[in-house]
Amino acid sequence: MSRGLFLSFEGIDGSGKSTQARLLARHLQECGREVVLTREPGGSEGAEEIRRLVLEGPPDRWSAETELLLFTAARRDHLERLIRPALSRGAVVISDRFADSTRVYQGLTRGDLRSAVDLLHDKMIGMEPDRTFLIDMDPARGLARALGRQGGEERFESFGLEMQSRMRAGFADLAKDAPERIVVIDGARDADAVARSVIEALPSGAAGGG
Ligand code: ADP
Ligand code: TYD
Repeated sequence: MSRGLFLSFEGIDGSGKSTQARLLARHLQECGREVVLTREPGGSEGAEEIRRLVLEGPPDRWSAETELLLFTAARRDHLERLIRPALSRGAVVISDRFADSTRVYQGLTRGDLRSAVDLLHDKMIGMEPDRTFLIDMDPARGLARALGRQGGEERFESFGLEMQSRMRAGFADLAKDAPERIVVIDGARDADAVARSVIEALPSGAAGGG
């Protein structure tokens, strides 16, 4: 039987994470794997409630510290209720964002909280994906894509271009620090070309039979 596999997609808003997560889920399903496609913040009932608290409303609704606690609480619930059970039964879990988003958004760009982020991660989460696909994208292009979508989750997307550039640099630094886990994928290509690069960067045996 195949072992469970935990994959995440990271990158700035509008870089194509959700699109790529869906395409990879379809590919792995066609290979015969059970795939659980999920997202953060959210992915479990409680975490989706926290998602609404944290993403809707004016940008100053929460302090950076409160926000870090909310994202961590959501992740803990997601882990307990969805991710761990799925991995235990041998599924592939594909998460649209995970802890690297907190390292970048709360750790760097919304106040210098990185040591608190790392402390909470160690105490409350304590695991990393087997592989993370960082979809890298010019922020102007990503922002234009993200703003083109409809929806009420505007708290973060209203931060603008300069913030998106800092986030891109923050993600690139994480990739440099964890080259064995994080693969940087050029997102400025058509979705099928990006998807092929993602498949090439899967850990061996991901498609099953190994
Ligand atoms: P994210 O989850 O990173 O915010 P999405 O996958 O939701 O990004 O994509 C943002 C927008 O850009 C969507 O409207 C999507 O259809 C479009 N999009 C995604 N990937 C590509 C691509 N490779 N080329 C052009 N447009 C894309
Ligand atoms: P998401 O819905 O993935 O946005 P997008 O599709 O535009 O990329 O995530 C919503 C926002 O939440 C996004 O701006 C990043 C932010 N976020 C954090 O600040 N910290 C976190 O830990 C996570 C998971 C997301």
